Amino acid sequence: MARNVIADSWRQNNLPTKILRLALGGTWFYGGWQKASDPTFLDKASTNYIGAQIQGYAKSSPLGFFLRHFVEHATQAGVLTMLVEMAIGIGVLTGIWMQAAIIGGAFVSFGLWLTVTWHVYPYFLGSDTAYLVMWIALFALIRQQYAGRKAPSVLPLNDRREFVRLLGIGVTAVIAAMGASKLQKSLPKAASGGEIVKLAKFPVGSTMQYTAPDGNPAYLFRTAAGVFAYSAICTHQGCVVSYNSLSKTLNCPCHGGRFDPYNGGAVLGGPPPTPLPKYKVAIKGDAIVNA
Ligand code: FES
Repeated sequence: MARNVIADSWRQNNLPTKILRLALGGTWFYGGWQKASDPTFLDKASTNYIGAQIQGYAKSSPLGFFLRHFVEHATQAGVLTMLVEMAIGIGVLTGIWMQAAIIGGAFVSFGLWLTVTWHVYPYFLGSDTAYLVMWIALFALIRQQYAGRKAPSVLPLNDRREFVRLLGIGVTAVIAAMGASKLQKSLPKAASGGEIVKLAKFPVGSTMQYTAPDGNPAYLFRTAAGVFAYSAICTHQGCVVSYNSLSKTLNCPCHGGRFDPYNGGAVLGGPPPTPLPKYKVAIKGDAIVNA
């Protein structure tokens, strides 16, 4: 029965609708999965913690007064976010409660635009406005195709067993993703003490990109005061930053985030909510090593 509902929902759609369903449903399911499987998303000690992100967004969003209420309950808000994103993705991909999922997706995109990508300039570099338009287009297409007929989105209301089964799939997916995240967290980190570069090849005033012990790209600096390093993963949406030797800043190509490596990785501009995380490095003998 569920298979029929899903297959029928795809059969009844024209090509543009199928493309939008696939793109939006797939992306939103992946968005929820990616959060659920990211060990830092619910880790209060991480700069990527959802609470730190909400705090950062609250500073610059027109909904800041509203967001501040969520900081205390950030973990619950984070879990809810991943569940809602996955539910929207599943709804759009399966056709189950599809119209509700589309309206939900449009509201969430609108909310993300007002919070996460509000300061992205020019606006077309932010993804949420584009998603909002895609949701509206998909809703219009679905309404057009089911004009005067019962949309497949209401079918499961008549079949509780199917609904419960699909709910089970969603909950299992979240548990599996969170299990994967725990596993990832427990994997041994690369040993510290590994050499990054010889001092002779990296004089005072040098900067270089290297791979941190956790496998992520990072930037290493050497000044008269010593050596220090930062993650090259932007704290906004995870793009890789690059060093600009003229402005002496780490710049994000995605939405214009800028960080000051000579001041603790502080945010100088753009939407990133928190400074770049630091990596521990030290001078040992004739080399710079992971500390
Ligand atoms: S990912 Fe958006 S500013 Fe870096």
